[in-house]
Amino acid sequence: MGAILEVRDLRVAYRSRGGVIFRALDGISFSLEPGEVMGVLGESGSGKSTLATSLLRLFHANAVDISGSVLFQGQDLLQAEADELQKIRGKLISLIFQEPSVALHPTLRAGRQVRQVLAAHGMNCRSALEKRTREVLGRLFFAEEAERIARSYPHQLSGGQRQRVLIAQAIACGPSVLIADEPTASLDPTTQMETLGVFRTLRKSMGLTMIFITHNPALLGDFADRVLVLYAGRVVELGAAQDILVSPKHPYTRALFQSIAPLFDTRRDSSKKKLPTISGDSLESSLPVAGCPFEPRCPERMEICKSREPGLVNVSETHTVSCFRYESP
Ligand SMILES: Nc1ncnc2c1ncn2[C@@H]1O[C@H](COP(=O)(O)OP(=O)(O)OP(=O)(O)O)[C@@H](O)[C@H]1O
Ligand SMILES: [Mg+2]
Repeated sequence: MGAILEVRDLRVAYRSRGGVIFRALDGISFSLEPGEVMGVLGESGSGKSTLATSLLRLFHANAVDISGSVLFQGQDLLQAEADELQKIRGKLISLIFQEPSVALHPTLRAGRQVRQVLAAHGMNCRSALEKRTREVLGRLFFAEEAERIARSYPHQLSGGQRQRVLIAQAIACGPSVLIADEPTASLDPTTQMETLGVFRTLRKSMGLTMIFITHNPALLGDFADRVLVLYAGRVVELGAAQDILVSPKHPYTRALFQSIAPLFDTRRDSSKKKLPTISGDSLESSLPVAGCPFEPRCPERMEICKSREPGLVNVSETHTVSCFRYESP
């Protein structure tokens, strides 16, 4: 089957007020098959949100040096006409933004906010809008709850309910691709698992292709088909979810996994303090360097790591890693 989404050598930088150029994405490539779920992992500042928004060509005003391509069903969204792009955004590809608390309008009822999405994509018959809104909220809430939610203002909803309303907006037009940027980050562990359940159900019932961004690998087991690990705007590891989650190869991925507390932390209080951290700073590492960007922080660095950047090496048919340790001599 052909890829539904193919990203080739995507690069985005930001220019600071002082004119300094900061590379947020530095040559990202991957492709997604229809119905596939790809988890994107990386610590804060690794470029996850920049990737999410760039896929829909939603760039900050200070984004510069944008290059590469984002092919959706063969059409390059970075080159598409504005009206073409408008038809695709929210309708064929939806994005759930990272900040759920600010994504909903505080003075509009939830039902109206879902209707607005449908109206923006051309549905203007009042009864059709009502019907579709009810249907969509019915997918996310129990029937008796859905009516009340539709009439509620965001402040009357819990964090998990607000997140579901955002999901309702995202799926309202029946997209084929859903990009979710840390959709559970602000929720408690139980609500995170419930919300993940919602994504699982939608994936099955709608056949959605998904990019699920998170900093927590625990959310991806049994859900993602593949995992992409970002570091300083580069793909450091990409492969089948089971390969990466069970047997991560890149020293950064390994360090990342060790530094994250389990979702439900059952360790005794004394051992909770011992979670290792990755020394150094990811921002420093994304400044232009001759070698591997992770080299200054890498516990397994070698002499060669300073001299040039490693390329992506296939460690199996389904797993690639960008690290000299895996290059054949
Ligand atoms: N508009 C901007 N101007 C300048 N720098 C920016 C801008 N937006 C993002 N950045 C920088 O680009 C890098 C990548 O940011 P991005 O928000 O994509 O990271 P992230 O992986 O989503 O982080 P988080 O986990 O905190 O959400 C960061 O260093 C960030 O400070
Ligand atoms: Mg982000």
